[in-house]
Amino acid sequence: MPAYFDFLLHGLALARTRKMLSFEQVKRSLENAGQPHVLQFWPELCEGDRESFLQELSQLDLQGLRDHCEGAAKAAASPSASLDQYVEPVPPQSIGSVRKSDRDSLAAWENEGLMQISKNRVGVLLLAGGQGTRLGVQYPKGMYNVGLPSGKTLYQIQAERIHKIQELADVKHGSKCTIPWYIMTSEFTLAPTEKFFKEANYFGLEPSNIFFFEQRMIPAVTFDGKVILQGKGKIAMAPDGNGGLYQALRDNMVLEDMKKKGVEYLHVYCVDNILVKMADPVFIGFCLYKGADCGAKVVEKAHPAEPVGVVCRVQGISQVVEYSEIQPETAELRGPGGELVYSAGNICNHFFTRAFLQDVAEKFEGQMKQHVAMKKVPFVDTRGNQVKPTNPNGIKMEKFVFDVFPFSRNFVVFEVVREDEFSPLKNADGAATDSPTTSRNSLLAQHCRWAMAAGAKLLDEHGNTLPTTASVSAGDNTPAHCEISPLVSYFGEGLEPLLKGKTLPTPFILDKKQAEELQAQKHFSDEQSTM
Ligand code: UTP
Repeated sequence: MPAYFDFLLHGLALARTRKMLSFEQVKRSLENAGQPHVLQFWPELCEGDRESFLQELSQLDLQGLRDHCEGAAKAAASPSASLDQYVEPVPPQSIGSVRKSDRDSLAAWENEGLMQISKNRVGVLLLAGGQGTRLGVQYPKGMYNVGLPSGKTLYQIQAERIHKIQELADVKHGSKCTIPWYIMTSEFTLAPTEKFFKEANYFGLEPSNIFFFEQRMIPAVTFDGKVILQGKGKIAMAPDGNGGLYQALRDNMVLEDMKKKGVEYLHVYCVDNILVKMADPVFIGFCLYKGADCGAKVVEKAHPAEPVGVVCRVQGISQVVEYSEIQPETAELRGPGGELVYSAGNICNHFFTRAFLQDVAEKFEGQMKQHVAMKKVPFVDTRGNQVKPTNPNGIKMEKFVFDVFPFSRNFVVFEVVREDEFSPLKNADGAATDSPTTSRNSLLAQHCRWAMAAGAKLLDEHGNTLPTTASVSAGDNTPAHCEISPLVSYFGEGLEPLLKGKTLPTPFILDKKQAEELQAQKHFSDEQSTM
């Protein structure tokens, strides 16, 4: 269960800039921090391992180590506070909703967003430093192929959405624009992610517009406050949570790069949501209309007990409250229309102005909460045996990206439709939710809906007509294999001229080449009919 505490531990993270210390200096510091066991296997290490271990330990803030270890153990032992008496929903004037807004408002927001994109004022930032332990693959989650007919990975889908939204903004405003892509990685994900992008030729994007950077790492600690040894000459380190973003922005001069490029607005998102609308112009436009410096996309909670954080206010301050921080009675509260009072499920999809991020990085980062995550951390025991625990044995302290909401001057919430915009990949197949199968099905179901809304008739493999839009949705029914490349359509637009009146046997893949052929056929038949 996540809990948090307010110790200032941000200096502890591995910083990569400190000079190498001598063995004696490190030994003394570890003893002072109550962690002499870290060097238990030193006599057994070869020269090379000793050097790399010393290098790793030199990068740590050894002065802050005692506080970190004791603080982590204390935080893990404290029950998380119940916030029921302090919570209230976000006031209606700060909320927008795709479902409840009229077409004109949605169109106005979209136009505004596209206009900002066309002026090169919008960037996207991907949080890709996580270890993806639940999915259980040994490579970054963005490289995962969920089994779509095209075989595309999450990274490729995202890259293609950037291409397409740039193109839509170009066409609308007659200019050639760029959306820089900032990608936060960690020690685990940086090298393989960079290699993957390079081998894929950056998916046709300009490499100078892709900015990889690395977040910091912090040591994992046992429940009694001891640094965990992952190997005889290696401590178990973990990325400092997706809220490590703000420190990483500073470490890597990311805001300076944004400023240089003229980027004023940033869309921040998680790697695992297969339906993510990169640089969503509707969301960006809504936030700008509201004059917001910080915004969060949410989806309506599926049911009161869904274990997602809820965007709300605590004593008047906007923040995300974890499911574990409120009682079921509060989660179940309903308004006069029967809707959940606390229904704004956080989907880790945020809008920030550069000015706000600058403020956070300079003034507020040190005030961010620290959350406790209990994890299974492989370790060497005191006899030197490698152990893979079956139950959580370690504490990883994490910051969360949303913990900057309290610092916002004008915070807004934008509710979107779950089946259109949110289907995360968290678990391995076999799990009931958030697996490769559920995310694949969400995307295929969406593309079936788009094709049908554009006027196509889809046939299953036996030649039977597939049911109408409403019944083709992700869930128990596996949707037909209809996949539309993001290079053809960003969010269902532009399909009618290609698909109207067509009968399409599935599996059906609409890629760029096929879209061009369909376009050429249409021109031909339009010409024939006017002759
Ligand atoms: P999750 O909390 O789902 O973690 O991250 P995860 O690493 O993907 O998966 P588990 O919990 O180990 O199974 C949500 C998002 O935050 C990013 C992830 O890459 C994902 O996009 N993240 C997480 C970071 O960028 N850094 C971190 O330290 C943690």
